[in-house]
Amino acid sequence: MNEREAMARALDLALRGWGRVQPDPLVGAVVIKGTEPVGEGWHPEYGDRHAETVALADAGEGARGATLVVTLEPCTHHGKQPPCTDAIIRSGVTRVVAAMRDPNPLAAGGCERLREAGIEVEIGPLGDAAAAMNAAFLHRLRNPGRPFVALKLATTLDGRIADAFGGSRWISGDAARDYVQWLRAGFDAIAVGGRTARLDDPALTVRGSVLPKAAPRRVIFDRIADLGPHLTLLRTAHETPTVVVVAPDADRTRVKRIASTGATIVQAGSLSGALASLSEQGIGSLLVEGGGQLAGALLAAGLVDRYYWLQAPLWLGEGGVPAVAGLPTRGLDQAERWRVVERRPLDNDTLLVLDRR
Ligand SMILES: NC(=O)c1ccc[n+]([C@@H]2O[C@H](COP(=O)([O-])OP(=O)(O)OC[C@H]3O[C@@H](n4cnc5c(N)ncnc54)[C@H](OP(=O)(O)O)[C@@H]3O)[C@@H](O)[C@H]2O)c1
Repeated sequence: MNEREAMARALDLALRGWGRVQPDPLVGAVVIKGTEPVGEGWHPEYGDRHAETVALADAGEGARGATLVVTLEPCTHHGKQPPCTDAIIRSGVTRVVAAMRDPNPLAAGGCERLREAGIEVEIGPLGDAAAAMNAAFLHRLRNPGRPFVALKLATTLDGRIADAFGGSRWISGDAARDYVQWLRAGFDAIAVGGRTARLDDPALTVRGSVLPKAAPRRVIFDRIADLGPHLTLLRTAHETPTVVVVAPDADRTRVKRIASTGATIVQAGSLSGALASLSEQGIGSLLVEGGGQLAGALLAAGLVDRYYWLQAPLWLGEGGVPAVAGLPTRGLDQAERWRVVERRPLDNDTLLVLDRR
């Protein structure tokens, strides 16, 4: 195993913390001696041991003279855990390879501390993949005023998310739906537009293989406050925290009826105002699962950071519900191109993960 392969392995290990570590970053680490892996670990849970100390403990005496390959710069500060740099220096590791710097000012400076202790340090291998994996964590540091917003849509080849007759279950296959359950576990909240809440009556709970440390909250964007209390999201608002975003001039009686279900009401005159309020309520990452009007409004306002696009190989024609509605017209020379960060088949469907540049 060379250092690049060790970093790829460390990135895979880091993902094992998905749904359990936020608001901490996902981190994985591998210790190699020559080309032999002698230890590995990952940050398993918020506040728990860091990947480096787990991997070094796994390597034991094997760490002496070895290389530690880690997906994020080791921390230097006393937080919920002691500084990783101290453990690394004690371990006898002689070289550290980190995929990227830690932009958190509290934890940064690890590389300098290690160099001062005589350890060789390299930063950068697979840095783009490491940054993409921790996009929500990085967003929180740069832009704490609103959550990291990811859009997830399952669309047909002709860009439809439902047929002309109200049918939307299911556009994608089992593997794609399992993926969405996994995806939900890593977000602080999951959102839909009012029409999707009314037509599909979703539960927006996590029912996959990953049990999130905290169940994601549910958010419904419903300016006119037209949600009936019989809807699953409102019937279960006492069990799973649910937020309904309404316009400031929404009908008071209808707002009261929604609030009486136990849902929290956020009044906002714009999507950016709504996101700022969600951020104040501790929502650092939001997975928006449609529909097309909400998706279009968020995209038009420049408020989507990532798009999880599940492409299904069928078409539904003109009458189907557009995946994205109401986007302003743009010339080809003005249209921004998003960056593909992941592309893979999910049985007969295709997953594309795209980031706004
Ligand atoms: N395939 C998929 O991945 C997928 C995912 C989700 C939904 N769907 C399907 O999509 C269909 C619903 O999609 P849709 O496009 O008709 O509706 P939608 O986007 O789910 O909901 C539209 C509603 O969102 C509300 N909204 C709140 N703030 C908004 C804002 N700033 N801009 C725009 N809308 C805002 C509006 O409510 P007010 O009218 O109260 O303002 C609007 O009526 C359903 O058939 C559903 O089954 C498919």
